[in-house]
Amino acid sequence: MSARIISGVEIAKAIREELKGEIADLKAKHNVVPGLVTVLVGENPASVSYVTAKSKTAKELGIYSEQVDLSAETSEADLLALIDKYNQDEKIHGILVQLPLPKHINEARVLYAIDPDKDVDGFHPVNVGKMVLGEKCFLPCTPHGILEMLQRSGVETSGKEVVVLGRSNIVGKPIANLMLQKRPAGNATVTLCHTRTKDTDFHTKRADILIAAVGVPNLIKADQVKDGVVIIDVGVNRIGMSESGKAILAGDVDFESVKEKASFITPVPGGVGPMTITMLMKNTVQSAKQAAGLL
Ligand code: GUN
Repeated sequence: MSARIISGVEIAKAIREELKGEIADLKAKHNVVPGLVTVLVGENPASVSYVTAKSKTAKELGIYSEQVDLSAETSEADLLALIDKYNQDEKIHGILVQLPLPKHINEARVLYAIDPDKDVDGFHPVNVGKMVLGEKCFLPCTPHGILEMLQRSGVETSGKEVVVLGRSNIVGKPIANLMLQKRPAGNATVTLCHTRTKDTDFHTKRADILIAAVGVPNLIKADQVKDGVVIIDVGVNRIGMSESGKAILAGDVDFESVKEKASFITPVPGGVGPMTITMLMKNTVQSAKQAAGLL
């Protein structure tokens, strides 16, 4: 049996339509326009394409958007000054600094400088702490997108064995934490595997839901999963370049073989990626509403 494809493109489209309505309403009824600034330091090709997509989507939805592209040599002090400027700017409700940053810039210092009320990435320790406690906050965009995909596809998570591969701050740690909480798309029993896990296959083979976020193309093969598994593939690995100069992408899961065994699977591209961007827009709208006292 071939798996049902969980299309991030389709789910993201539905959420964007909902957001468009909310944004139009905010403008008409409260004269509020959500504002987002994206900041890119350097020219990492993947980061350039992510930031461009984020600004473009914001504009399409009616979000006021600014994009700041800085040279790779920008000093940490200049970046902190820019963040401070946007912390004070009332038109801006969300500040996104694209990661990774060049090595000479301390990433934590930059993320901690963002006003937690404008931290639409959900990376500030105030928001991370609230997330772990199950309090209202900005949820990090990729895990937030995964929760939406599971919920909107009707995947039951309560009581299931969820295995997460990868312990990054952006995906692995937060999605593991969210799925063990008492919340929609939660109540799971969660195992988080990483580079020092003794027998990763033991865990992947018993997973009801497998979330791969390791950055190794086609790492997980059909013989490492059980029949009926739900696969969420977060990997976006550039494995080559097409003749027209477009990056060829592969996930962390060998889609062609694993789709024959899985019950649900997300494709790459067109799976988790479009959801991440959409949840950033959702967080920006949430931030604008909070600033206007509407939440
Ligand atoms: N780099 C990779 N994913 C992300 C993300 O979700 N937010 C930011 N700011 N940088 C990233």
